[in-house]
Amino acid sequence: MQARIWALLFLCCISSLISAQDPGRNTPVREKLTLDKGWKFFKGDIPFPVVKGHRESYNNAKAGNALGAAAPNFGDMAWPIVNLPHDWAVEGAFDKAENISQSYRKRGIGWYRRQFKLDPSDRGRHLEIQFDGIATHATIWFNGMVVHRNWSGYTSMYVDITALAKYGDEMNSIAVRVDADDQEGWWYEGAGIYRHSWLVKRSPLHVITDGIFANPIKNESGWTIPAEITLANSGTQPTKADVQVSLLDATGKTVATGQTQTSVTNLGQNIARLTIKVDNPTLWSVDNPYRYWVKTIVKQGTTFVDSLTTTCGFRTIRFDADSGFYLNEKHLKLQGVCNHQDHAGVGMAVPDALWEFRLRKLKEMGVNAYRCAHNPPSVEFLDACDRMGMLVMDENRNFNTSPEYMGQLQWMVRRDRNHPSIILWSVFNEEPMQGSEQGYEMVRRMSAEVKALDTTRPVTAAMNGGLFAPHNVSKAVDVVGFNYQMHIYDRFHKENPTMKLTSSEDASAFQVRGEYKTDKGKNIIDAYDSERALWGATHRGAWKAIVERPYLAGAFVWTGFDYRGEPSPFSWPSASSFFGAMDLCGFPKTAFYIHQAQWVADKPILNMVPHWNWSADSVGKSIKVMVMSNADSVRLVLNGKPVAGQRVDTYEMNTFQVPYSPGKLEAIAYKGGKEIARTKQETTDPPVAVQLVPDRLALDGDGQDAMPITVRVVDKKGREVPTASNVVKLSIKGSGRIIGVGNGDPNSHELEKGDQRSLFNGLAQVIVQADEGIIPVELMASAEGLQPFTLRIPVRKAPLVAAVPMVRPTLQLTEWRMSPFTDSKPNPVIEIAENDMNSWLPTKAAQLQTFAEGRFALFRTSFTLTDSPGETDRTLSLKSLTGKAEVWLNNQLIFTKASEGSEAVRIPFKGMNKTYKLVVLIEAEKAKQAGFGGVVNVE
Ligand code: GAL
Repeated sequence: MQARIWALLFLCCISSLISAQDPGRNTPVREKLTLDKGWKFFKGDIPFPVVKGHRESYNNAKAGNALGAAAPNFGDMAWPIVNLPHDWAVEGAFDKAENISQSYRKRGIGWYRRQFKLDPSDRGRHLEIQFDGIATHATIWFNGMVVHRNWSGYTSMYVDITALAKYGDEMNSIAVRVDADDQEGWWYEGAGIYRHSWLVKRSPLHVITDGIFANPIKNESGWTIPAEITLANSGTQPTKADVQVSLLDATGKTVATGQTQTSVTNLGQNIARLTIKVDNPTLWSVDNPYRYWVKTIVKQGTTFVDSLTTTCGFRTIRFDADSGFYLNEKHLKLQGVCNHQDHAGVGMAVPDALWEFRLRKLKEMGVNAYRCAHNPPSVEFLDACDRMGMLVMDENRNFNTSPEYMGQLQWMVRRDRNHPSIILWSVFNEEPMQGSEQGYEMVRRMSAEVKALDTTRPVTAAMNGGLFAPHNVSKAVDVVGFNYQMHIYDRFHKENPTMKLTSSEDASAFQVRGEYKTDKGKNIIDAYDSERALWGATHRGAWKAIVERPYLAGAFVWTGFDYRGEPSPFSWPSASSFFGAMDLCGFPKTAFYIHQAQWVADKPILNMVPHWNWSADSVGKSIKVMVMSNADSVRLVLNGKPVAGQRVDTYEMNTFQVPYSPGKLEAIAYKGGKEIARTKQETTDPPVAVQLVPDRLALDGDGQDAMPITVRVVDKKGREVPTASNVVKLSIKGSGRIIGVGNGDPNSHELEKGDQRSLFNGLAQVIVQADEGIIPVELMASAEGLQPFTLRIPVRKAPLVAAVPMVRPTLQLTEWRMSPFTDSKPNPVIEIAENDMNSWLPTKAAQLQTFAEGRFALFRTSFTLTDSPGETDRTLSLKSLTGKAEVWLNNQLIFTKASEGSEAVRIPFKGMNKTYKLVVLIEAEKAKQAGFGGVVNVE
């Protein structure tokens, strides 16, 4: 977290990522404001009204007239408010009738709505709303107009709203219909707006989203950054643009600069290109992930119009057909894991801070590479990989070369190509077309598409077959990825000696954390690395096959963490996977310790399973003990008596059969004849107290920071009881809230939201998220018969992410039809002929009319209230009603205004759930301006 704070402070210092100021003026030239807070949410679909009749059909076909819940004036006042990231599927219960792949969770359809206002000073700026990820298919409306449709739960959506935005009192409305019945995976995909959303305000001349490509490269003459800056101009005139690029080191010092000039037509785009040379940069590596910052400034004449900062790292990567992978020309075996993106308690709505937690656990295990299976991850995850030193295989989701899907691939490369962590672009996973002419042709095109955007990283594809077919994908990629192809590793290498190869997926072994006896009747598999999928290998077997083959760049174990769905080899009641080296909470299983012993070289590793809490009838019986170490030899001592010793088997690890006797079992590790580590398993007494163990010392009070807290119980000597299953109740006070609970049991159906959880083999996890504030969090945990525990977590003052303010939910009546002007007073309740589209013209509130052709006019609209079953006190508010007026609601006169001037008028009425016809009759002197000088709202 310390690292996070420094990174934040640093970013604030260079003052450009979130909001860049013109040094000469005080207006920010670029603002990135979070839209995460204050969404109205409805779980379920709201069918669109059936369009019938000529007038409705005519209106329905017009821009800005979206119907139903997509309409700006839809009454959502009674909907609950949610904040993003949000995954509604994880909130629900498990249901056998639902899809096993989606963790037996109901997904369905949901609606989100958000209103916001823009200051009139924003007029003329370029405005974009962004969604970083919505599961799964989304339709987005802005101010009643459909503005985007997205058929992937893993790609961002950028919507230019500049032309449609309203300013001042007029409300802007976003509506999002999320269809999570559709699915793109065979794993849990969540449901809803599960990543962040933003409003970005920029100058008319600006750098487009993902418009900076500044990734250092090294050639014979040294290091350079060839920078490409894509500029757009939403202004009305063509313009010249001066672009300056500076490279800042981690202390904020400028170490190199470059500049260029280009021009951009009005409503056009152009790419400014320049190269900066950098001498002797500090290299980025997994052990020293040193990052630089590329600060881009755009000027229009002398005016500073845009500025933003991106990250980069100086490192070289190389794959070799004989000897594998090189980072900065140093050989590095990839010790990789594949992962999906859900976590206990929160599902897909993972707070950013949890990425750091998960990566820290993986690094502790010795992992140096991460495959984003099988989709692009969040940008916050990639930032954490850059920051923490994790190599990444970034993976495209949909294998399809039609324009829309190629757009998804392009988006991934454009968004991610500055991250030093990314070393491979993966275009697919296990596609049945992989061994065919068509598959080859598709990948040839996808690879070309990637190369058009980035030639610095190889393209791969994760193949599980077809590798010897005459036409196959291996011939169209730079690095061939093998999913579980152990049996052909050697033959393929022999027949294709110049091809670069890596495992892209291996292992697929099963274990349940803390279980040491397989019981298939109860969907339990022991954690001795004894079972694997038919197509896979044990953790030990898979790694041995890779280590023994220098031509393989490395491993990508399936998986680092358990994930929801795919509970192979079982089904109901199992709801999450058994593959992880860690469970859904990130608690280590034996596989974690196996890889740690195999992968961590710079410090002694020693771990031992199982626990030593066996029942009385186990006394004297033989217990299988497994020791994982990177030492030369290990020795076991039970209750002070030596049991056995073995040389460490670096692949298989060491197993012993030890006759059980309660007490203390110790393992001692030796290197070069010297003891280098010691661990133990002790028989504990029954639990007497609950304990909470925080992951970090404090939370940042920014409303976003979050941390997992381990829940456990201890005996009277303070020892963790590894077999405990107590139900622990939780409550919280201060600047924080519980956002999820879990325990890593793949067979548990306990709810993940709420304030209690049972321990599974001694452990549970509660995730606490900070509110905005500085009041320390007090998390209380209690369990029947045990001493309760209160954990106090300091909450530090932290900068808040600048946000789009929430507004009071309002039904704004923007769309009106206005009658022809007349000299005599018209009948206010007159009906408009069904086929008459032309004599009553559409008009908006907040604009006065000139009464040139007569003294009277009628203004008419309708609205529907939906939020309260009975009568509710409502107010019709007309901010600036101008002229003499009569207000008629459902053919009843409810208000009369005798004066001619402008007035703010508030008319109370009793609202019911029904549709209302509202007519305002205005009378004005000939040629005067009258009507609605301001907005009309139902409050
Ligand atoms: C692979 C697949 C993964 C996962 C795994 C389970 O075939 O790529 O997504 O399903 O099998 O073993």
